[in-house]
Amino acid sequence: MGTSERWSPDSWRAWPSEQQPEWPDPDALEAVVAQLRALPPLVFAGESRQLRRALAGVAAGDAFLLHVGDCAESFRDLSAPRIRDNLKIMLQMATVLTYGAALPVVKLGRVAGQFAKPRSSPTERVGGLELPSFRGHIVNDDAPEAGARVPDPARLLQAYHQSAARLNLLRAFTKGGFADLRQVHLWNLEFVARSSEGRRYEGIARGIDDALRFMTACGIDLEREHQLHEVDLFTSHEGLILPYEEALTRRDSLSGDWYDCSAHLLWIGERTRDPGGAHIEFFSGVENPLACKLGTAANGDQVVALCERLDPERDPGRLTLIVRLGADGVEDLLPPLIRAVREAGHPVIWACDPMHGNGLLTPEGVKTRRFDDIMRELRGFFRVCRAEGVWPGGVHLEFTGDDVTECVGGVEPVSEGDLGVHYSTLCDPRLNAKQSLDVAFQVAELLAPGRPRR
Ligand code: PEP
Ligand code: CO
Repeated sequence: MGTSERWSPDSWRAWPSEQQPEWPDPDALEAVVAQLRALPPLVFAGESRQLRRALAGVAAGDAFLLHVGDCAESFRDLSAPRIRDNLKIMLQMATVLTYGAALPVVKLGRVAGQFAKPRSSPTERVGGLELPSFRGHIVNDDAPEAGARVPDPARLLQAYHQSAARLNLLRAFTKGGFADLRQVHLWNLEFVARSSEGRRYEGIARGIDDALRFMTACGIDLEREHQLHEVDLFTSHEGLILPYEEALTRRDSLSGDWYDCSAHLLWIGERTRDPGGAHIEFFSGVENPLACKLGTAANGDQVVALCERLDPERDPGRLTLIVRLGADGVEDLLPPLIRAVREAGHPVIWACDPMHGNGLLTPEGVKTRRFDDIMRELRGFFRVCRAEGVWPGGVHLEFTGDDVTECVGGVEPVSEGDLGVHYSTLCDPRLNAKQSLDVAFQVAELLAPGRPRR
């Protein structure tokens, strides 16, 4: 690696860093970092390399990236049913996309470590109170009182153990039979199965049953085909709290390269992507596949500078650019970014996050997003990619397997008046299970075979 003479897991400390909490006791923080450094990695570098190869397939236009999960995982919500239900939705979405678009789907969760939240302002108003902002459970608590908002480094250790527990169950489910394609009906949650999206999904599930029976009748031994019985699910989170990421960064004994072993892929958020900042310095030195969010302020020169820092070798699968430009912005703002990156020769994956550019506040001050805006941004993204001759490589969504009412609209529409019914997000409004499935059906149509790939 060209950066190895000057890069080390702590070299970011000499760079200006955004969004780092003000830890009240820096020695306590360093003591926790030392403890984390002595704990085993959460993922194995070989798995990150496997994801990077799968993403190279996406960069080549031969696969599609499904990058989904909660906005902010909660320490209070470490339950098997929650982990299982979120996985069910992800498997359903992946099934709809694989079946509808006849393409391999790379499954990447915002999961098992998505505990840190960047905030636009250091304080927020809750009720009548002005409080330090909630920064995710890896930093502080969301309770509306000043004491709960003080950053506590012990939370870094809790985040590690919570991630390990979540990842352990996900590995068990995805490798132990739950994700077997013969279970395709079981992934339909009861309240989803009764909806029109759920019935549409059942149609696909029956088609898969028929295909499996047909292959058996042809003499194919399905037991031997491990791809039918297990799923590769990769983990990711926003790499925000740098002491935590540094502590989990290890030199791989096989390749000698550095990997951030807190997750398979790390992404850099819209607020921390300055090419001269600590986050880009840190991630430039690890060999994980990376992603970077791009909002409306991004311009071609900046994005090319980012690509130079994160992908100097121009290696397909290394870097995914996740654009979140808003339904009204995507068609004007995306073409110049694509052209600049293409001209500079970086083989990035272009993915669309139609959530973070479409936030709005209701007159009552509730954060929401309109399902129609989400779909409008996705359609705009596909149109631009096709017009510019690049592969629309993936979607990035915030969802939950719960029957929440946080985003308005959808086939069985959630109205603004419904927002109070079941609104439980810690941060941004998420698609519920039915809305997520609906997005998957519509994206599958946008990707459908017969449409030009490139
Ligand atoms: C997020 O993905 O939760 C997020 C904060 O995104 P962005 O950095 O794009 O605002
Ligand atoms: Co969010």
